[in-house]
Amino acid sequence: MKYWQFSQLIINWYHMYGRKNLPWQIKKTDYHIWISEIMLQQTQVKTVIPYYKKFISTFNTIDKLAQTNLDEILHIWSGLGYYKRAINLHKTAKIIINKYHGYFPNSIIDLIKLPGIGKTTAGAILSLSKNFSFPILDGNVKRILTRFYNLPKNFNKLKHYENKLWHLINMITPIHNANKFNQGMMDLGSLICQYKKPKCHICPLNQNCQYIKNFNNQKTNITKII
Ligand code: ADE
Repeated sequence: MKYWQFSQLIINWYHMYGRKNLPWQIKKTDYHIWISEIMLQQTQVKTVIPYYKKFISTFNTIDKLAQTNLDEILHIWSGLGYYKRAINLHKTAKIIINKYHGYFPNSIIDLIKLPGIGKTTAGAILSLSKNFSFPILDGNVKRILTRFYNLPKNFNKLKHYENKLWHLINMITPIHNANKFNQGMMDLGSLICQYKKPKCHICPLNQNCQYIKNFNNQKTNITKII
Protein backbone atom coordinates (compact mmCIF):
# COMPACT_ATOMS: atom_id res chain seq x y z
CA MET A 1 0.00 0.00 0.00
CA LYS A 2 1.27 3.49 -0.85
CA TYR A 3 1.85 5.92 2.01
CA TRP A 4 -0.80 8.31 0.66
CA GLN A 5 -3.37 5.50 0.59
CA PHE A 6 -2.58 4.69 4.22
CA SER A 7 -3.09 8.31 5.31
CA GLN A 8 -6.25 8.69 3.20
CA LEU A 9 -7.85 5.66 4.87
CA ILE A 10 -7.07 7.15 8.28
CA ILE A 11 -8.47 10.58 7.36
CA ASN A 12 -11.68 9.02 5.97
CA TRP A 13 -12.04 6.92 9.11
CA TYR A 14 -11.44 10.00 11.28
CA HIS A 15 -14.29 11.86 9.53
CA MET A 16 -16.70 9.02 10.36
CA TYR A 17 -15.53 7.79 13.75
CA GLY A 18 -12.78 10.01 15.18
CA ARG A 19 -13.14 11.98 18.42
CA LYS A 20 -14.15 15.57 17.77
CA ASN A 21 -15.64 16.71 21.05
CA LEU A 22 -12.83 16.34 23.56
CA PRO A 23 -12.51 19.51 25.71
CA TRP A 24 -9.19 20.45 24.06
CA GLN A 25 -10.78 20.19 20.61
CA ILE A 26 -13.13 23.11 21.25
CA LYS A 27 -10.55 25.91 21.29
CA LYS A 28 -7.52 24.62 19.46
CA THR A 29 -5.04 27.35 20.32
CA ASP A 30 -1.40 26.43 20.85
CA TYR A 31 -1.93 27.03 24.58
CA HIS A 32 -4.90 24.64 24.85
CA ILE A 33 -3.27 21.92 22.75
CA TRP A 34 -0.02 22.22 24.70
CA ILE A 35 -1.71 21.83 28.12
CA SER A 36 -3.76 18.83 26.92
CA GLU A 37 -0.78 17.11 25.32
CA ILE A 38 1.36 17.47 28.44
CA MET A 39 -1.46 16.01 30.55
CA LEU A 40 -1.98 13.18 28.03
CA GLN A 41 1.71 12.23 27.97
CA GLN A 42 1.38 9.63 30.72
CA THR A 43 -2.31 9.71 31.51
CA GLN A 44 -5.47 8.33 29.88
CA VAL A 45 -8.00 10.59 28.16
CA LYS A 46 -10.83 9.93 30.64
CA THR A 47 -8.60 10.80 33.62
CA VAL A 48 -7.28 13.94 31.95
CA ILE A 49 -10.68 15.49 31.08
CA PRO A 50 -11.68 16.87 34.54
CA TYR A 51 -8.10 18.02 35.27
CA TYR A 52 -7.89 19.77 31.94
CA LYS A 53 -11.17 21.61 32.49
CA LYS A 54 -10.16 22.75 35.95
CA PHE A 55 -6.70 23.80 34.80
CA ILE A 56 -7.99 25.85 31.87
CA SER A 57 -10.67 27.56 33.89
CA THR A 58 -8.09 28.49 36.55
CA PHE A 59 -5.30 29.51 34.16
CA ASN A 60 -7.19 30.68 31.10
CA THR A 61 -4.16 32.26 29.43
CA ILE A 62 -0.47 31.44 29.23
CA ASP A 63 0.20 34.86 30.75
CA LYS A 64 -1.75 33.92 33.84
CA LEU A 65 0.04 30.58 34.07
CA ALA A 66 3.45 32.25 33.85
CA GLN A 67 2.56 34.69 36.63
CA THR A 68 1.10 32.10 39.02
CA ASN A 69 3.34 30.66 41.66
CA LEU A 70 4.33 27.03 41.26
CA ASP A 71 2.55 25.84 44.41
CA GLU A 72 -0.77 26.89 42.99
CA ILE A 73 -0.11 24.97 39.77
CA LEU A 74 0.96 21.88 41.74
CA HIS A 75 -2.22 22.15 43.77
CA ILE A 76 -4.40 21.96 40.64
CA TRP A 77 -2.17 19.18 39.30
CA SER A 78 -2.40 17.14 42.48
CA GLY A 79 -3.66 13.60 41.79
CA LEU A 80 -2.55 13.58 38.15
CA GLY A 81 0.98 12.37 38.96
CA TYR A 82 4.34 12.93 37.25
CA TYR A 83 4.70 16.36 38.84
CA LYS A 84 7.76 17.18 36.79
CA ARG A 85 5.25 17.89 34.02
CA ALA A 86 3.69 20.72 36.05
CA ILE A 87 7.12 22.16 36.92
CA ASN A 88 8.07 22.12 33.23
CA LEU A 89 4.74 23.73 32.28
CA HIS A 90 5.55 26.66 34.52
CA LYS A 91 9.10 27.01 33.15
CA THR A 92 7.90 26.85 29.55
CA ALA A 93 5.09 29.36 30.17
CA LYS A 94 7.64 31.87 31.44
CA ILE A 95 9.92 31.33 28.44
CA ILE A 96 7.00 31.74 26.01
CA ILE A 97 6.05 35.03 27.66
CA ASN A 98 9.56 36.43 28.03
CA LYS A 99 11.18 35.18 24.84
CA TYR A 100 8.32 34.63 22.38
CA HIS A 101 5.80 37.35 23.33
CA GLY A 102 3.18 34.82 24.42
CA TYR A 103 3.00 32.59 21.34
CA PHE A 104 4.62 29.23 20.70
CA PRO A 105 7.26 29.35 17.96
CA ASN A 106 6.42 27.71 14.62
CA SER A 107 9.79 26.03 14.39
CA ILE A 108 10.11 22.45 15.64
CA ILE A 109 13.77 23.09 16.49
CA ASP A 110 12.76 25.90 18.86
CA LEU A 111 9.80 23.97 20.27
CA ILE A 112 11.83 20.93 21.34
CA LYS A 113 14.20 23.18 23.29
CA LEU A 114 11.35 24.06 25.67
CA PRO A 115 11.17 22.15 28.98
CA GLY A 116 8.87 19.09 28.75
CA ILE A 117 8.39 19.31 24.97
CA GLY A 118 9.74 16.45 22.86
CA LYS A 119 9.26 15.71 19.18
CA THR A 120 5.78 14.22 19.65
CA THR A 121 4.40 17.07 21.77
CA ALA A 122 5.95 19.57 19.35
CA GLY A 123 4.35 17.69 16.43
CA ALA A 124 1.00 17.78 18.23
CA ILE A 125 1.19 21.55 18.81
CA LEU A 126 2.20 22.23 15.21
CA SER A 127 -0.31 19.88 13.60
CA LEU A 128 -3.35 19.91 15.91
CA SER A 129 -3.35 23.65 16.56
CA LYS A 130 -1.68 25.14 13.47
CA ASN A 131 -2.36 22.34 10.95
CA PHE A 132 1.27 22.17 9.81
CA SER A 133 2.42 18.84 8.46
CA PHE A 134 4.34 17.29 11.37
CA PRO A 135 4.08 13.72 12.64
CA ILE A 136 3.19 12.41 16.09
CA LEU A 137 4.71 9.16 17.34
CA ASP A 138 3.05 8.23 20.61
CA GLY A 139 2.34 4.74 21.95
CA ASN A 140 -0.83 4.38 19.88
CA VAL A 141 0.87 5.30 16.63
CA LYS A 142 3.82 3.00 17.39
CA ARG A 143 1.47 0.06 17.96
CA ILE A 144 -0.37 0.62 14.67
CA LEU A 145 2.88 0.85 12.67
CA THR A 146 4.44 -2.13 14.41
CA ARG A 147 1.41 -4.30 13.65
CA PHE A 148 0.75 -3.00 10.15
CA TYR A 149 4.35 -3.55 9.00
CA ASN A 150 4.92 -6.62 11.19
CA LEU A 151 7.94 -5.09 12.92
CA PRO A 152 9.57 -7.08 15.74
CA LYS A 153 7.85 -6.87 19.15
CA ASN A 154 10.67 -5.08 21.00
CA PHE A 155 11.00 -2.72 18.08
CA ASN A 156 10.42 0.53 19.92
CA LYS A 157 12.92 -0.22 22.70
CA LEU A 158 16.00 0.35 20.58
CA LYS A 159 17.13 3.69 19.26
CA HIS A 160 17.67 2.36 15.77
CA TYR A 161 14.12 1.06 15.63
CA GLU A 162 12.75 4.27 17.10
CA ASN A 163 14.44 6.12 14.23
CA LYS A 164 12.90 3.68 11.76
CA LEU A 165 9.42 4.38 13.20
CA TRP A 166 10.02 8.14 12.93
CA HIS A 167 11.09 7.65 9.33
CA LEU A 168 7.92 5.68 8.53
CA ILE A 169 5.55 8.15 10.18
CA ASN A 170 7.35 11.04 8.47
CA MET A 171 6.67 9.39 5.12
CA ILE A 172 3.03 8.60 5.91
CA THR A 173 1.99 11.95 7.45
CA PRO A 174 0.21 13.88 4.68
CA ILE A 175 1.01 17.47 3.67
CA HIS A 176 -2.67 18.44 3.95
CA ASN A 177 -4.91 17.48 6.86
CA ALA A 178 -2.06 16.39 9.12
CA ASN A 179 -4.30 17.44 12.03
CA LYS A 180 -7.01 14.96 11.03
CA PHE A 181 -4.49 12.27 10.21
CA ASN A 182 -2.72 12.59 13.57
CA GLN A 183 -5.89 12.69 15.60
CA GLY A 184 -7.21 9.76 13.54
CA MET A 185 -4.11 7.66 14.28
CA MET A 186 -4.36 8.32 18.01
CA ASP A 187 -8.08 7.54 18.01
CA LEU A 188 -7.65 4.41 15.91
CA GLY A 189 -4.89 3.24 18.27
CA SER A 190 -7.01 3.66 21.36
CA LEU A 191 -10.46 2.71 20.00
CA ILE A 192 -9.68 -0.06 17.44
CA CYS A 193 -6.02 -1.10 17.40
CA GLN A 194 -5.86 -1.33 21.16
CA TYR A 195 -3.24 -3.41 22.95
CA LYS A 196 -5.61 -6.18 24.02
CA LYS A 197 -8.15 -7.67 21.60
CA PRO A 198 -7.82 -5.25 18.68
CA LYS A 199 -11.02 -4.90 16.63
CA CYS A 200 -9.41 -5.81 13.29
CA HIS A 201 -12.76 -6.61 11.64
CA ILE A 202 -13.73 -2.92 11.72
CA CYS A 203 -10.26 -1.42 11.12
CA PRO A 204 -9.85 0.70 7.97
CA LEU A 205 -6.35 -0.76 7.45
CA ASN A 206 -7.36 -4.42 7.65
CA GLN A 207 -6.96 -5.18 3.92
CA ASN A 208 -3.23 -4.61 4.07
CA CYS A 209 -2.27 -5.11 7.69
CA GLN A 210 0.39 -7.75 8.37
CA TYR A 211 -0.91 -8.36 11.87
CA ILE A 212 -4.30 -9.65 10.73
CA LYS A 213 -2.66 -11.57 7.86
CA ASN A 214 -0.41 -13.42 10.31
CA PHE A 215 -3.34 -14.01 12.60
CA ASN A 216 -5.42 -15.50 9.75
CA ASN A 217 -2.47 -17.65 8.58
CA GLN A 218 -2.05 -19.03 12.05
CA LYS A 219 -5.73 -19.94 12.14
CA THR A 220 -5.49 -21.63 8.73
CA ASN A 221 -2.43 -23.60 9.84
CA ILE A 222 -4.20 -24.74 12.98
CA THR A 223 -7.20 -25.88 10.93
CA LYS A 224 -4.83 -27.78 8.62
CA ILE A 225 -3.18 -29.50 11.56
CA ILE A 226 -6.52 -30.41 13.10
N1 ADE B 1 -3.02 11.17 23.40
C1 ADE B 1 -2.16 12.18 23.21
N2 ADE B 1 -2.74 13.18 22.52
C2 ADE B 1 -4.01 12.81 22.30
C3 ADE B 1 -5.13 13.41 21.66
N3 ADE B 1 -5.02 14.61 21.11
N4 ADE B 1 -6.27 12.71 21.59
C4 ADE B 1 -6.36 11.49 22.15
N5 ADE B 1 -5.36 10.87 22.77
C5 ADE B 1 -4.19 11.52 22.85
